[in-house]
Amino acid sequence: MSENMLMIQNLSRNFGGLAALRDLTFSVAKGEIVGLIGPNGAGKTTAFNVITGTMPPSSGKVMFDGRSIAGGPPSRVVVAGLARTFQSTSTYPNVSVAGNVYRGLLSRIQGSTVGRLVGRRIDMLAASQVDAEIDQILHITDLASWRDAPAGSLPYGLQKKLGIAIALATRPRMLLLDEPAAGLNHEECKDLARLLRHLRDDHELTLLLVEHHMALVMELCQRIVVLVQGEKIAEGSPQDIRQNEAVIEAYLGAPDYAHA
Ligand SMILES: Nc1ncnc2c1ncn2[C@@H]1O[C@H](COP(=O)(O)OP(=O)(O)OP(=O)(O)O)[C@@H](O)[C@H]1O
Ligand SMILES: [Mg+2]
Repeated sequence: MSENMLMIQNLSRNFGGLAALRDLTFSVAKGEIVGLIGPNGAGKTTAFNVITGTMPPSSGKVMFDGRSIAGGPPSRVVVAGLARTFQSTSTYPNVSVAGNVYRGLLSRIQGSTVGRLVGRRIDMLAASQVDAEIDQILHITDLASWRDAPAGSLPYGLQKKLGIAIALATRPRMLLLDEPAAGLNHEECKDLARLLRHLRDDHELTLLLVEHHMALVMELCQRIVVLVQGEKIAEGSPQDIRQNEAVIEAYLGAPDYAHA
């Protein structure tokens, strides 16, 4: 049995009278790519927000690498080695690609105890080390030729990839991806699949993937968790999930997802 990296236990989150997450329990083992899928409003982004400390749970536990991280703060979660990307692009459009990646580096340093105590930021890393880290991340994400371009000038697909690069700059061991394929064309989707596999296989990253692009989910994920109205209705291999009656009824069979 492989080691669990992320364990979510009986997690609930209410917004007033709305139960966005209800008693959600699942785990992600080290080195796995797990999919978290479900219709719009199912609670997928809320799960990410609670896991990464952006908002506290109403009840339940989040354990990362054996330690409780629910309730944040987000900077502590980042330093623990858990990073995320956002559903919408979240770059600074007027800042260069390299400058945006630098933000990720900063959040790692500022979030660390030493960084906070010393109250210093980039002076803690030599300029050459900063450049080398940025170059490495741009190389991994194949964005090196865009290094000095303003982020806002990149085609949409590359802006999404820059979101992944910013998250990688925090040196995570696990990455949560919120709809990385949304708005991508076929080629960009293939490229994204290659990148995610490369991160898992060659950089030892564990991935939790929220995505409506079913072909991508089925191709990449070893295991899939299905949420509907905040509740887990199924969990299993892509094969199991594709054939699961409840999942077909609630999600996969819906006209919006007919391409799945
Ligand atoms: N900050 C908030 N305040 C109040 N309600 C919220 C908040 N965030 C999410 N919700 C509600 O919680 C439910 C789950 O939303 P969430 O964004 O997690 O869904 P999702 O599965 O990510 O959907 P999508 O596939 O459309 O991104 C929705 O009904 C949403 O309106
Ligand atoms: Mg969402």
